[in-house]
Amino acid sequence: MAALRARAVLLTGSNRGIGLELVKQLLGGPRPPAWIFATCRDPEGPRAQELRDLASRHPNLVLVKLDVADPSAIISAVKIVEGKLNGAGLNLLINNAGIYAPATLDTVDSEEMIRAYKTNAVGPLLMAQAFLPLLKKAARESTDKGLSCSKAAIINISTIMGSIEKTSESFFKPVISYRCSKAALNMLTKCQALTYEETGILCVALHPGWVKTDMGTQEADLTADTSVRGLLSVLPILSEKHSGSLLNWEGKAIPW
Ligand SMILES: NC(=O)c1ccc[n+]([C@@H]2O[C@H](COP(=O)([O-])OP(=O)(O)OC[C@H]3O[C@@H](n4cnc5c(N)ncnc54)[C@H](OP(=O)(O)O)[C@@H]3O)[C@@H](O)[C@H]2O)c1
Repeated sequence: MAALRARAVLLTGSNRGIGLELVKQLLGGPRPPAWIFATCRDPEGPRAQELRDLASRHPNLVLVKLDVADPSAIISAVKIVEGKLNGAGLNLLINNAGIYAPATLDTVDSEEMIRAYKTNAVGPLLMAQAFLPLLKKAARESTDKGLSCSKAAIINISTIMGSIEKTSESFFKPVISYRCSKAALNMLTKCQALTYEETGILCVALHPGWVKTDMGTQEADLTADTSVRGLLSVLPILSEKHSGSLLNWEGKAIPW
């Protein structure tokens, strides 16, 4: 099986749920990255205790404060990451942070729509813009042919709930702000893939499945361990033929 050879990886929302599990499995994998930048809103707070414990045992894990809904925080995070990389590039940006609210067409309001867009769509857009020079640097440094997550990639953690074609299958949960903001994230992924292809950066949206986390609840189908094992086995097989698509945790394509 192909292995992920990314030297530097950055994740958002990595203090709990799928983000934290990604950090744990990247650290415990066969080829741990030289740098894992685990970002979260409050690295000093009680909800980042597990992440701090991991960082105390793994010198390649760097905690960075980052609220993806705050453009100035994104710029500050780039400076910290750039300093640590000391001239090297960033291979893999995983936009994982996300929010979900049980809003229906009757109850949703402009504040909730804007809140969801800021975190789920605008945040990933600004993250990619800000980290683009470091991603381009990684693409230039690589001798690999084609596109890959080991070379340079943007992975947007999306959801099947952002698929317009699949909406009727799960519309018993309307979650309007979540669906619309994730559909926007899917469109963003396609636009990023078409734009960044020529600079050697792969762009893919991944659906992790319905996962037992605070967001997914304990009723969900998959444990975070199973979902993340799947996601991490999909990353190394991604190539230019997948760029600009939405795939699930098993690598199966989901229609837009
Ligand atoms: N769980 C599922 O069934 C499922 C299904 C499909 C897709 N997904 C997607 O998978 C991703 C992770 O979901 P999850 O289940 O792990 O959710 P979760 O358990 O609710 O965790 C969400 C994470 O995002 C962070 N976050 C939220 N807003 C943020 C912001 N403005 N800036 C930085 N971090 C922020 C949270 O940090 P705080 O602790 O600071 O709040 C937390 O670390 C999301 O994008 C979600 O849409 C999940």
